Amino acid sequence: MAIERTLSIIKPDAVAKNVIGQIVARFEQANLKVIAARLQQLSREDAERFYAVHKERPFYKDLVDFMVSGPVFVQVLEGENAIQKNRDLMGATDPKKADAGTIRADFADSIDANAVHGSDAAETAANEIAFFFAESTVHSR
Ligand code: PPS
Repeated sequence: MAIERTLSIIKPDAVAKNVIGQIVARFEQANLKVIAARLQQLSREDAERFYAVHKERPFYKDLVDFMVSGPVFVQVLEGENAIQKNRDLMGATDPKKADAGTIRADFADSIDANAVHGSDAAETAANEIAFFFAESTVHSR
């Protein structure tokens, strides 16, 4: 299976709950490696640009408001089938619908404050990684 990279964001709700380590441990236990990482306060402009694809959706403003409400932990994960593996570990967007044992089932409070973001496809992953990290700051290992 192909070695892939994906962008993961631990969102402000999970950072505020002090569960960065618990979430990262799940990635590591699933054989995903953290190959770049940073705690960052997004500006409104950053969040609007990052979520521009959802601009016309009714929740866009709420999503942007939430993503600037506190720092996020952005990271690049690398491993076999990393994009889908990360999505499986995250669980469904709405934590009420997320399978037991997934990150959202265990740490998310609502569809707004849903703990994590993960790239949904190879092209999105490449764009999202480039949004946050210069290639020189990504350390494949
Ligand atoms: S996804 O994850 O892209 O397949 O899901 P989607 O339903 O298309 O949602 C896109 C992103 O918007 C967030 N979202 C919401 N935010 C606030 N309020 C409501 N109601 C809401 N519904 C969806 C969802 O978490 C996705 O954000 P990311 O960061 O990609 O997980």
